[in-house]
Amino acid sequence: MGAGNTLVFKPGAIFILAVLMAESCAGHDKHVEPRKLISTTDDRPGSISIDCGVNEDYPDEQSGIYYKSDSDFVKAGENKQVSPRYILTHPQMGQMLQTLRSFPEGKKNCYNLKPEQGKGHHYMFRAMFYYGNYDGLQQPPSFEVYLGVNFWTTVSCSNDMTFYYNEIIQFLSTDTIDVCLVNTGSGIPIISALELRLLNDAIYQIESRVLGERIRYDVIDNNFSTTRYKDDVYDRIWKHITFPGASLNKTMINIDIQDSNNNYRIPTEILKTAIQPSNRWDSLSYWFKMPTDYFERDLYVYFHFAEIVNTTEDQRREISITLNGVKLAPITLEYLKPLSIGPQNFPIKGFVNFSIDATAESSLPPLLNAFEIYMDVKFPTSPTHLVDVDAIMDIKQMYKISRPNWQGDPCVPGAYEWSGLHCGFENSTMRITYLNLSSSNLEGEISSSFFSLTAMVSLDLSNNKLTGPVPEFLAQLPKLKVLDLSGNKFKGQIPKALMEKSNSGTLQLRLDENLDLCLIDTCENNHKRMVRPIVASAVSVVALLILLSVLLIICIIKRRRQKGAKLKEERSMKSKNKTFTYSEISNITTNFTMVIGEGGFGKVYLGTLNDGTHVAVKVLSSSSKQGYKEFQAEAQLLIIVHHKNLVSLVGYCDEDDNKALVYENLVNGNLRQHLSDGNTNILSWIERLQIAVDAAHGLEYLHNGCRPPIVHRDLKTSNILLTENMQAKIADFGLSRAFSTEFASHISTCPAGTPGYLDPEFHSSGIINKKSDVYSFGIVLLELVSGQPVILRGEEPIHIIELINPLIERGDIRRVIDPRLQGEFNINAAWKAVEIAMACVLPLGIQRPDMSQVLLELKECLDLETGSRETQKIGSQILNNSLEIAHPLAR
Ligand SMILES: *[C@@H]1O[C@H](CO)[C@@H](O)[C@H](O)[C@H]1NC(C)=O
Ligand SMILES: *[C@@H]1O[C@H](CO)[C@@H](O)[C@H](O)[C@H]1NC(C)=O
Ligand SMILES: *[C@@H]1O[C@H](CO)[C@@H](O)[C@H](O)[C@H]1NC(C)=O
Ligand SMILES: *[C@@H]1O[C@H](CO)[C@@H](O)[C@H](O)[C@H]1NC(C)=O
Ligand SMILES: *[C@@H]1O[C@H](CO)[C@@H](O)[C@H](O)[C@H]1NC(C)=O
Ligand SMILES: *[C@@H]1O[C@H](CO)[C@@H](O)[C@H](O)[C@H]1NC(C)=O
Repeated sequence: MGAGNTLVFKPGAIFILAVLMAESCAGHDKHVEPRKLISTTDDRPGSISIDCGVNEDYPDEQSGIYYKSDSDFVKAGENKQVSPRYILTHPQMGQMLQTLRSFPEGKKNCYNLKPEQGKGHHYMFRAMFYYGNYDGLQQPPSFEVYLGVNFWTTVSCSNDMTFYYNEIIQFLSTDTIDVCLVNTGSGIPIISALELRLLNDAIYQIESRVLGERIRYDVIDNNFSTTRYKDDVYDRIWKHITFPGASLNKTMINIDIQDSNNNYRIPTEILKTAIQPSNRWDSLSYWFKMPTDYFERDLYVYFHFAEIVNTTEDQRREISITLNGVKLAPITLEYLKPLSIGPQNFPIKGFVNFSIDATAESSLPPLLNAFEIYMDVKFPTSPTHLVDVDAIMDIKQMYKISRPNWQGDPCVPGAYEWSGLHCGFENSTMRITYLNLSSSNLEGEISSSFFSLTAMVSLDLSNNKLTGPVPEFLAQLPKLKVLDLSGNKFKGQIPKALMEKSNSGTLQLRLDENLDLCLIDTCENNHKRMVRPIVASAVSVVALLILLSVLLIICIIKRRRQKGAKLKEERSMKSKNKTFTYSEISNITTNFTMVIGEGGFGKVYLGTLNDGTHVAVKVLSSSSKQGYKEFQAEAQLLIIVHHKNLVSLVGYCDEDDNKALVYENLVNGNLRQHLSDGNTNILSWIERLQIAVDAAHGLEYLHNGCRPPIVHRDLKTSNILLTENMQAKIADFGLSRAFSTEFASHISTCPAGTPGYLDPEFHSSGIINKKSDVYSFGIVLLELVSGQPVILRGEEPIHIIELINPLIERGDIRRVIDPRLQGEFNINAAWKAVEIAMACVLPLGIQRPDMSQVLLELKECLDLETGSRETQKIGSQILNNSLEIAHPLAR
């Protein structure tokens, strides 16, 4: 260790709490300049930059960062501008500090960030705050900031021209994360900017700790400017300080950080300058003390070096670092090679005291280019059980619940629990145990997401407009003690299991004031399964039970009348739908000459109507004819089902033994043909997603748009037909049910489904329901994304799920997706599509989503794909432009 003078720099007192940077500038009477309107997104992957309080996204020409407005990230708050006298003109932050967003309403308001790369990576989060007397009250607020569910920092704004920022580096284990501002009663929370940057996973990673930046210095002359993006690829903000007595040396030669294997990627401009004491024997010493509140926190110091002198043979620079009394191994620097030292494997607490000396072997003095100090940030709180969070988010979205405090995590921190909801620990995980959504204007059916809330004890959905059946799964929530469904419009029958629980006293069940709820067993077992309004006047549940037998009769009569009336009405509207005689059918098909397909029910012929329209005529084979007792009634039912994603039934023939169905003809064949190996015209990824959305739309309509709901029972790729414009339409719906022989009494002989597509639950239960269709749809989706057939015929036939499952478990999405696409797809959209498919093919029907949810998710998936295309296109243009601005010398 060298003897002699020690140069000491003590900035410790400047750093109080979260205040990492304070800056004073003279005020300017300058107004906010109009922003350029270019619609694009940030040009760097893994980056989110939000300039809070602006109305439009804009590229900041000075920093080269593309800032977005808050609108996609936060629902509450108001846009504000700092008062003109307070406008800061900082070269790298100026514009973003001119606006801010304030949150006068609510205790907790959150920004929801969804980085493109998702979970499993290290990110740097940075929040900036500048009060700037925006409200003219000269009353700077103080408030708390949370990252996810954990306290991040307290922000105490000041009334001078000082702005604050705080940075944290965290490994994300969820795909989205909230940054929440919490009003603690000391003024309205504000925020000026929020930035998120994807880091290399190899850097700043200490076990699984969360690091808070305390100091990041480029040792150079002491001035107020900073270095950040684009000099720094990770957009770290470097402040400049000087070591008194040390001399600054600079090389003019470029240091290539891209080629070096130093992952810290310290900006070239920073590495090109270094300080050294003028005397060979002097040290470079630094001392920094933590505020007392943080005295127990572990600190981590990172040193960054690069030799900038082309040493001659008799010169040599070897240096040793002594950090808080511990001497680190000596290091020899190589000319223009970046070298980073850190983190430490011994505890550093309370203060940092280092000195850098030349070793005895060294002929040159010590040298330093830059250093950083991070603090271990305690994030002790775990978020609510992820399954519960996903479920409640789905519920919030599905029913469009817009309660002001339904932001961030539903349960933690406990003081900011969502309204109408309580939580409790189960096996040291926070779970939702109580949910009260009474009188919340909920519409639609009960979401299957409720089934995921398995810790639920009390669920109150009373006084809403909920419709559809009371789902059976409610009886399977293991902890449920209170269930209030009163005052809704539920239809159908109360599940037996639910009644049993209620009767045995384990469940407090309320179902009163549901006028359309049918309490009669026979409703469900009836072959037609028609669920119609039973009575139109207000009758309590008890009265209904008493009047059971009388009502049963009314029920049947009324149903018949309604059905007849409805059909008449529909048919007069659609006069094109018609019945054909057998000779007409024979004419249309020119004596059954052109066979275009053969299905389970018979051959399909191409035909032409008198007006020239092409049709597909399905002639039911004689072997399967006997059972069609209600052919006419069922055909009439199907004829009134119209949807853009369903193949229309134009008419039918029902003449004694001759039965035929006449459908619109689709020119582009079926989906199976398009996916098969022989096909040369490969469906693009976006076409596939569009087809998936179309098919989901059609199926969703059958399930939820028809009364009674129609279960397809035989969905497969060969039943999805394509129009000229590649719009998908589902064919053959309703056939298996309507035309299967004596279905109710001979379950085992019923021709339901196709091998590979058939709901595995069918084997045990013998029941086909909506969720069976969801399963088949999942298989179709897997075929669509992978291009594989449902069963791969080889020595051992392999089912598509067995084929794909191992690839998904390995995270090998690129091998899941059809290789013929040659990588032409958005990886996030691909993951999402596969995840949807896998949810649809879960073994138990109850685990599978409803088609309405599948449709919603697929639409998002399509948006993701189309969105990413536009981004890619425009993003690269911006990158090129700003590169020219930033490096004029590079040309
Ligand atoms: C501050 O230091 C940076 C880095 O050396 C330099 O580019 C800038 O000109 C300096 N600014 C002032 C005001 O001295
Ligand atoms: C470093 O800078 C000092 C003073 O600015 C100068 O005397 C010295 O020669 C420089 N050293 C090198 C190696 O450039
Ligand atoms: C460093 O010096 C050696 C001779 O001492 C010279 O050959 C070499 O080109 C120099 N390197 C650079 C990058 O200037
Ligand atoms: C810093 O460490 C040096 C030894 O490396 C020691 O002499 C000095 O007293 C320490 N300073 C403080 C403030 O602890
Ligand atoms: C809690 O943990 C115990 C033991 O690990 C386990 O048996 C039990 O099933 C868990 N409870 C729940 C509700 O997960
Ligand atoms: C739900 O909230 C309503 C009104 O806020 C209240 O009347 C009702 O008792 C609550 N339900 C439960 C189960 O606590």
